[in-house]
Amino acid sequence: MKLGVNIDHIATLRNARGQDNPSILRALQVCEKAKVDTLTVHLREDRRHINDNDLKLLKKYSKLPINLEMALTDEMISISKRIKPNFICLVPEKRNEITTEGGLNLEKISENKLRSLLSVCYSNGIELSAFINPNKKAINLAKKLKFQTVELHTGSLDKIKINNKDKEKINKMIDYAFSLNLKVNIGHGLNFSNIKFIKNRKKIDTVHIGHFIISEAIFLSLYETIKKFQRII
Ligand code: PXP
Repeated sequence: MKLGVNIDHIATLRNARGQDNPSILRALQVCEKAKVDTLTVHLREDRRHINDNDLKLLKKYSKLPINLEMALTDEMISISKRIKPNFICLVPEKRNEITTEGGLNLEKISENKLRSLLSVCYSNGIELSAFINPNKKAINLAKKLKFQTVELHTGSLDKIKINNKDKEKINKMIDYAFSLNLKVNIGHGLNFSNIKFIKNRKKIDTVHIGHFIISEAIFLSLYETIKKFQRII
Protein backbone atom coordinates (compact mmCIF):
# COMPACT_ATOMS: atom_id res chain seq x y z
CA MET A 1 0.00 0.00 0.00
CA LYS A 2 1.35 3.39 -1.00
CA LEU A 3 1.13 6.53 1.12
CA GLY A 4 -0.44 9.77 -0.06
CA VAL A 5 0.07 12.68 2.29
CA ASN A 6 -2.56 15.38 2.39
CA ILE A 7 -0.91 18.71 3.21
CA ASP A 8 -4.09 20.81 3.45
CA HIS A 9 -3.58 21.45 7.14
CA ILE A 10 -0.16 22.98 6.61
CA ALA A 11 -2.10 25.62 4.68
CA THR A 12 -4.74 25.82 7.44
CA LEU A 13 -2.00 26.76 9.90
CA ARG A 14 -0.41 29.17 7.46
CA ASN A 15 -3.75 30.86 6.76
CA ALA A 16 -4.21 31.51 10.49
CA ARG A 17 -1.61 34.29 10.11
CA GLY A 18 -1.86 35.03 6.41
CA GLN A 19 1.88 34.96 5.71
CA ASP A 20 3.91 32.06 4.32
CA ASN A 21 4.63 30.12 7.48
CA PRO A 22 4.58 27.12 7.53
CA SER A 23 5.51 26.94 3.89
CA ILE A 24 3.75 24.54 1.55
CA LEU A 25 6.89 24.20 -0.55
CA ARG A 26 8.94 23.26 2.51
CA ALA A 27 6.35 20.59 3.29
CA LEU A 28 6.69 19.39 -0.29
CA GLN A 29 10.49 19.07 0.14
CA VAL A 30 10.03 16.95 3.28
CA CYS A 31 7.48 14.73 1.53
CA GLU A 32 9.89 14.26 -1.37
CA LYS A 33 12.78 13.46 0.96
CA ALA A 34 10.60 10.96 2.84
CA LYS A 35 9.65 9.36 -0.50
CA VAL A 36 5.94 9.81 -0.12
CA ASP A 37 4.07 8.28 -3.08
CA THR A 38 1.56 11.05 -3.75
CA LEU A 39 0.89 14.53 -2.53
CA THR A 40 -2.78 15.21 -1.90
CA VAL A 41 -4.53 18.56 -1.75
CA HIS A 42 -8.20 19.46 -1.57
CA LEU A 43 -9.01 22.70 -3.32
CA ARG A 44 -12.27 23.68 -1.65
CA GLU A 45 -14.81 26.09 -3.02
CA ASP A 46 -14.18 28.39 -0.02
CA ARG A 47 -10.36 27.94 -0.29
CA ARG A 48 -10.20 27.40 3.45
CA HIS A 49 -6.79 25.74 3.24
CA ILE A 50 -5.02 25.15 -0.10
CA ASN A 51 -5.55 27.99 -2.56
CA ASP A 52 -5.11 28.38 -6.31
CA ASN A 53 -1.60 29.75 -5.99
CA ASP A 54 -0.52 26.78 -3.81
CA LEU A 55 -1.81 24.42 -6.45
CA LYS A 56 0.06 26.27 -9.19
CA LEU A 57 3.31 26.19 -7.20
CA LEU A 58 2.92 22.53 -6.28
CA LYS A 59 2.31 21.64 -9.90
CA LYS A 60 5.41 23.59 -10.92
CA TYR A 61 7.80 22.24 -8.28
CA SER A 62 6.50 18.84 -7.18
CA LYS A 63 8.42 15.77 -8.24
CA LEU A 64 5.64 13.76 -6.60
CA PRO A 65 2.41 12.89 -8.39
CA ILE A 66 -0.38 15.22 -7.32
CA ASN A 67 -3.77 13.94 -6.23
CA LEU A 68 -6.35 16.70 -6.42
CA GLU A 69 -9.45 16.23 -4.31
CA MET A 70 -12.29 18.31 -5.68
CA ALA A 71 -16.03 18.70 -5.98
CA LEU A 72 -17.64 18.06 -9.34
CA THR A 73 -18.27 21.69 -10.30
CA ASP A 74 -17.63 23.64 -13.51
CA GLU A 75 -14.99 25.75 -11.73
CA MET A 76 -13.06 22.69 -10.53
CA ILE A 77 -13.32 20.98 -13.91
CA SER A 78 -11.75 23.98 -15.57
CA ILE A 79 -9.01 24.18 -12.89
CA SER A 80 -8.23 20.50 -13.36
CA LYS A 81 -7.95 21.08 -17.10
CA ARG A 82 -5.39 23.80 -16.48
CA ILE A 83 -3.41 22.13 -13.69
CA LYS A 84 -3.51 18.56 -15.00
CA PRO A 85 -2.92 16.71 -11.72
CA ASN A 86 -1.92 13.04 -11.91
CA PHE A 87 -4.99 11.92 -9.98
CA ILE A 88 -8.37 13.43 -9.23
CA CYS A 89 -10.54 12.22 -6.40
CA LEU A 90 -14.12 13.47 -6.52
CA VAL A 91 -15.38 14.40 -3.09
CA PRO A 92 -18.64 15.85 -1.79
CA GLU A 93 -18.42 19.33 -0.39
CA LYS A 94 -20.61 21.18 2.04
CA ARG A 95 -19.68 24.68 3.04
CA ASN A 96 -20.26 24.31 6.75
CA GLU A 97 -18.69 20.91 7.29
CA ILE A 98 -15.52 20.65 9.35
CA THR A 99 -14.07 18.05 7.01
CA THR A 100 -15.36 15.73 4.27
CA GLU A 101 -18.03 14.11 6.40
CA GLY A 102 -19.14 11.30 4.15
CA GLY A 103 -18.68 9.80 0.74
CA LEU A 104 -19.97 11.21 -2.50
CA ASN A 105 -23.63 10.43 -3.26
CA LEU A 106 -23.21 9.04 -6.75
CA GLU A 107 -26.98 8.89 -7.23
CA LYS A 108 -27.07 12.66 -7.26
CA ILE A 109 -23.98 13.26 -9.38
CA SER A 110 -24.40 15.29 -12.58
CA GLU A 111 -23.71 12.87 -15.41
CA ASN A 112 -23.05 15.80 -17.76
CA LYS A 113 -20.36 17.20 -15.50
CA LEU A 114 -18.91 13.72 -15.00
CA ARG A 115 -18.72 13.26 -18.78
CA SER A 116 -17.00 16.60 -19.14
CA LEU A 117 -14.46 15.75 -16.39
CA LEU A 118 -13.89 12.31 -17.89
CA SER A 119 -12.95 13.89 -21.19
CA VAL A 120 -10.39 16.12 -19.37
CA CYS A 121 -9.06 12.98 -17.64
CA TYR A 122 -8.84 10.90 -20.84
CA SER A 123 -7.05 13.59 -22.80
CA ASN A 124 -4.53 14.32 -20.03
CA GLY A 125 -3.92 10.84 -18.62
CA ILE A 126 -5.47 11.72 -15.26
CA GLU A 127 -6.71 8.83 -13.14
CA LEU A 128 -10.14 9.55 -11.67
CA SER A 129 -11.56 8.12 -8.48
CA ALA A 130 -14.61 8.74 -6.31
CA PHE A 131 -14.55 9.05 -2.55
CA ILE A 132 -17.47 6.89 -1.43
CA ASN A 133 -18.93 5.35 1.67
CA PRO A 134 -17.95 1.74 2.27
CA ASN A 135 -21.23 0.09 1.35
CA LYS A 136 -22.34 -2.13 -1.51
CA LYS A 137 -24.77 0.38 -2.96
CA ALA A 138 -22.10 3.08 -3.36
CA ILE A 139 -19.50 0.63 -4.67
CA ASN A 140 -21.96 -0.86 -7.21
CA LEU A 141 -22.89 2.61 -8.40
CA ALA A 142 -19.23 3.58 -8.83
CA LYS A 143 -18.74 0.48 -10.94
CA LYS A 144 -21.88 1.23 -12.96
CA LEU A 145 -20.62 4.77 -13.65
CA LYS A 146 -17.38 3.20 -14.92
CA PHE A 147 -15.03 4.46 -12.22
CA GLN A 148 -11.97 2.23 -12.21
CA THR A 149 -10.78 3.45 -8.83
CA VAL A 150 -12.64 4.17 -5.62
CA GLU A 151 -11.45 5.66 -2.37
CA LEU A 152 -13.37 4.14 0.52
CA HIS A 153 -14.18 6.42 3.45
CA THR A 154 -12.60 5.01 6.61
CA GLY A 155 -13.99 7.65 8.98
CA SER A 156 -15.89 4.96 10.95
CA LEU A 157 -12.52 3.89 12.40
CA ASP A 158 -11.82 7.38 13.72
CA LYS A 159 -13.13 6.96 17.27
CA ILE A 160 -11.68 6.18 20.66
CA LYS A 161 -13.54 2.87 20.95
CA ILE A 162 -13.81 1.14 17.60
CA ASN A 163 -16.20 -1.80 17.62
CA ASN A 164 -15.63 -5.03 15.74
CA LYS A 165 -18.62 -4.37 13.49
CA ASP A 166 -16.93 -1.22 12.09
CA LYS A 167 -13.66 -3.08 11.52
CA GLU A 168 -15.42 -5.99 9.82
CA LYS A 169 -17.56 -3.75 7.65
CA ILE A 170 -14.70 -1.73 6.21
CA ASN A 171 -12.63 -4.84 5.50
CA LYS A 172 -15.61 -6.59 3.91
CA MET A 173 -16.30 -3.61 1.66
CA ILE A 174 -12.64 -3.34 0.62
CA ASP A 175 -12.84 -7.01 -0.43
CA TYR A 176 -16.17 -6.37 -2.15
CA ALA A 177 -14.64 -3.57 -4.23
CA PHE A 178 -11.75 -5.90 -5.15
CA SER A 179 -14.27 -8.52 -6.24
CA LEU A 180 -15.62 -6.01 -8.79
CA ASN A 181 -12.07 -5.44 -10.08
CA LEU A 182 -11.93 -1.91 -8.77
CA LYS A 183 -8.67 -0.33 -7.74
CA VAL A 184 -9.08 0.54 -4.07
CA ASN A 185 -7.71 3.49 -2.13
CA ILE A 186 -8.70 4.32 1.43
CA GLY A 187 -8.68 7.45 3.52
CA HIS A 188 -10.07 9.63 6.26
CA GLY A 189 -9.46 9.65 9.97
CA LEU A 190 -6.62 7.13 9.87
CA ASN A 191 -3.76 7.13 12.35
CA PHE A 192 -0.91 4.93 13.62
CA SER A 193 -3.26 2.61 15.48
CA ASN A 194 -6.49 2.29 13.49
CA ILE A 195 -4.61 1.67 10.21
CA LYS A 196 -3.66 -1.70 11.72
CA PHE A 197 -7.31 -2.83 11.53
CA ILE A 198 -7.19 -2.65 7.74
CA LYS A 199 -6.46 -6.18 6.64
CA ASN A 200 -5.75 -6.44 2.94
CA ARG A 201 -3.06 -3.73 2.96
CA LYS A 202 -0.94 -5.31 0.25
CA LYS A 203 -3.80 -5.19 -2.28
CA ILE A 204 -4.94 -1.66 -1.49
CA ASP A 205 -3.30 0.84 -3.80
CA THR A 206 -2.94 4.00 -1.69
CA VAL A 207 -3.92 5.30 1.72
CA HIS A 208 -4.45 9.05 1.92
CA ILE A 209 -3.74 10.61 5.29
CA GLY A 210 -3.85 14.24 6.29
CA HIS A 211 -4.95 15.52 9.66
CA PHE A 212 -3.22 12.93 11.83
CA ILE A 213 0.12 13.23 10.03
CA ILE A 214 0.16 17.00 10.25
CA SER A 215 -0.94 16.91 13.91
CA GLU A 216 1.63 14.32 14.87
CA ALA A 217 4.31 16.28 13.01
CA ILE A 218 4.05 18.96 15.73
CA PHE A 219 5.57 16.45 18.15
CA LEU A 220 7.61 14.10 15.95
CA SER A 221 8.50 16.22 12.88
CA LEU A 222 6.84 15.76 9.50
CA TYR A 223 9.66 13.56 8.22
CA GLU A 224 9.65 11.19 11.20
CA THR A 225 5.85 10.93 11.22
CA ILE A 226 5.80 9.96 7.55
CA LYS A 227 8.62 7.45 8.07
CA LYS A 228 6.78 5.88 11.02
CA PHE A 229 3.60 5.62 8.94
CA GLN A 230 5.48 4.03 6.08
CA ARG A 231 6.93 1.42 8.45
CA ILE A 232 3.47 0.58 9.76
CA ILE A 233 1.81 0.22 6.38
N1 PXP B 1 -9.23 11.23 1.52
C1 PXP B 1 -10.19 12.14 1.19
C2 PXP B 1 -10.94 11.92 -0.07
C3 PXP B 1 -10.42 13.27 1.99
O1 PXP B 1 -11.38 14.15 1.64
C4 PXP B 1 -9.62 13.45 3.14
C5 PXP B 1 -9.84 14.67 3.99
O2 PXP B 1 -9.58 15.82 3.26
C6 PXP B 1 -8.64 12.50 3.43
C7 PXP B 1 -8.48 11.38 2.62
C8 PXP B 1 -7.74 12.65 4.60
O3 PXP B 1 -8.46 12.56 5.79
P1 PXP B 1 -7.75 12.93 7.13
O4 PXP B 1 -7.35 14.35 7.06
O5 PXP B 1 -8.79 12.64 8.17
O6 PXP B 1 -6.55 12.01 7.25
